[in-house]
Amino acid sequence: MLLDVRDLKVSFDTPDGVVEAVRGLDLRLAAGESVGIVGESGSGKSQSVLALMGLLADNARVSGSATLQTDTGALELIGAKRRVLERIRGARIAMIFQDPMTTLNPHLRIATQIKEVITRHRGLRGRAATKAAIEMLEAVKIPDPARRIRYYPHQFSGGMRQRVMIAMALACEPDILIADEPTTALDVTVQADILDLMAELRQRTNVALLLITHDLGVVAGQCERLLVMRHGEVVERGAIDPIFEAPAHAYTRDLLAAVPKLETPHFARASS
Ligand SMILES: Nc1ncnc2c1ncn2[C@@H]1O[C@H](COP(=O)(O)OP(=O)(O)OP(=O)(O)O)[C@@H](O)[C@H]1O
Ligand SMILES: [Mg+2]
Repeated sequence: MLLDVRDLKVSFDTPDGVVEAVRGLDLRLAAGESVGIVGESGSGKSQSVLALMGLLADNARVSGSATLQTDTGALELIGAKRRVLERIRGARIAMIFQDPMTTLNPHLRIATQIKEVITRHRGLRGRAATKAAIEMLEAVKIPDPARRIRYYPHQFSGGMRQRVMIAMALACEPDILIADEPTTALDVTVQADILDLMAELRQRTNVALLLITHDLGVVAGQCERLLVMRHGEVVERGAIDPIFEAPAHAYTRDLLAAVPKLETPHFARASS
């Protein structure tokens, strides 16, 4: 198993007491697999994946286990040294967020930021790095990449920025891509383009995907399996089709009722 998470718990110490954000998450992700995590706001989706990456806030307490399979054996992520986690992040596990501006440096041209990743990961510099960076923008279908690579982040639209983030995330050829509401901030047509792009790149690179969203329609199009979280716990899990056909939990039924009919998996199957 590529990633094996067992009984992951995250709590936060606050002046008003302890907030239990994640109350025992079990999750397994095989190489190349795509798993969706859905649930309402505050259900613990983001804190679960931030815990895996060692990116929780200072007032967090975490317990449980998350082992990542590497070339040199299983590596425990929970409680791992910062140096170890920094090496894992980007190289083995890449992450994209709802708002690319939180990750991109607003003061540096896109070229500089992409080339930094390319240099670190592939050891390319100068013209070779620039050429590789332009190819990366091409791969995520940014038009006129040779010119746009000189842009600053604010010169891109939200959708284009998310494409840049996807390019940078996949540049390191990670085993796992964690996407936390990657299209939530985008309007619907742009959202569909980005999701198509992610699906296409996933097929090409065989990267495993952990996709967080509050939108079951998005999960239906992207994932093979689904976890439904509520109040820090998984209330339902399994393959997409059986859950869509007969959700066991009332909360899942409520979520499903909110999905527009056109986005059910039956439609996706019929049209693909
Ligand atoms: N630093 C913190 N201190 C205290 N509580 C926190 C902290 N960070 C997160 N929380 C709490 O942890 C809980 C889970 O948050 P989390 O970010 O995982 O939600 P989420 O499922 O990702 O929601 P959303 O869909 O809104 O992104 C929430 O109740 C949140 O308020
Ligand atoms: Mg979140």
